[in-house]
Amino acid sequence: MFDHEPVPGRNDPCWCGSGKKYKKCHEASDMKMERLYDDGEEVLPRSLLKMPRDIEGIKASAAVNMGVLDYVGEHIRAGVSTMDINEWVESYLSAHGAVSADLNFEGYPYSVCTSINDVVCHGFPNNDDVLQDGDIINVDMSTIKGGYFSDSSRMFCIGEVSPERRRLVEVCHESVKAGLAAVKPWGHLGDVGAAVHKVCTDAGFTVIEEYGGHGIGKEFHEDPFVSFVSDPGTGPILVPGMCFTIEPMVNAGKPGIRTDRSNGWIVRTRDGSDSAQWEVQLVVTEDGYELLSW
Ligand code: MF3
Ligand code: CO
Repeated sequence: MFDHEPVPGRNDPCWCGSGKKYKKCHEASDMKMERLYDDGEEVLPRSLLKMPRDIEGIKASAAVNMGVLDYVGEHIRAGVSTMDINEWVESYLSAHGAVSADLNFEGYPYSVCTSINDVVCHGFPNNDDVLQDGDIINVDMSTIKGGYFSDSSRMFCIGEVSPERRRLVEVCHESVKAGLAAVKPWGHLGDVGAAVHKVCTDAGFTVIEEYGGHGIGKEFHEDPFVSFVSDPGTGPILVPGMCFTIEPMVNAGKPGIRTDRSNGWIVRTRDGSDSAQWEVQLVVTEDGYELLSW
């Protein structure tokens, strides 16, 4: 098979562990993947596909992840520091038997990313960063529970936000919805990125190329890399059971970014313009997608 993994006999148990006979389970999907591979398409290994029990595990993790973001949404306001948010996150997670996927990930020192205004991503929670009227902030939350990973982020507008900032936040959100609408089983991942990109650039914004979405489930970051600067009809084939995020970083100004050299993490726009990001996590289904975390 294209992924160099064994193929069971038709009457043997399916490789996915469902207990069903192979011919009644993944045989047809495997044949389709093999045929697309033979046609020269990019087909990712079957080991990335999530089974119903995995989806249940991811949903339990995502319930906590979204609970944290709901809590943040209810309490965030001018006067709150981003370190306050980090503390809310830590107490919510421990009260729900979960841990942050961010904390200690490749040395990341906090439990959440808080990115204000020109901060593109990986903003450090900080006692000195006190939210002010007119700020926009992305709170990016990732949870591990029962061995499964969930990941989503939301933008919050603090008090009276300028129409320009509000439009950036809204267009970015719309672009994620357009990306979701482009998720079709047996389509291409490049269709998703292209749909996101079009909404953002049609509105006069730019999309960051250096960062993108990712497969997720049993690991924090799995294949595929999900670019939001991609062409339709390119990239890996979308197969039912694939789980990944859509999380474009969208700049009001130029797309250039700069990573803070003093910590190696905090990414800002090079021109000081504002940046927004929303992130959702989904699974490809037989007829489209199911949202897992948002
Ligand atoms: N949550 C981010 C993502 O969407 C990853 C953050 S990694 C961290 O993929 F280490 F900065 F937390
Ligand atoms: Co992510």
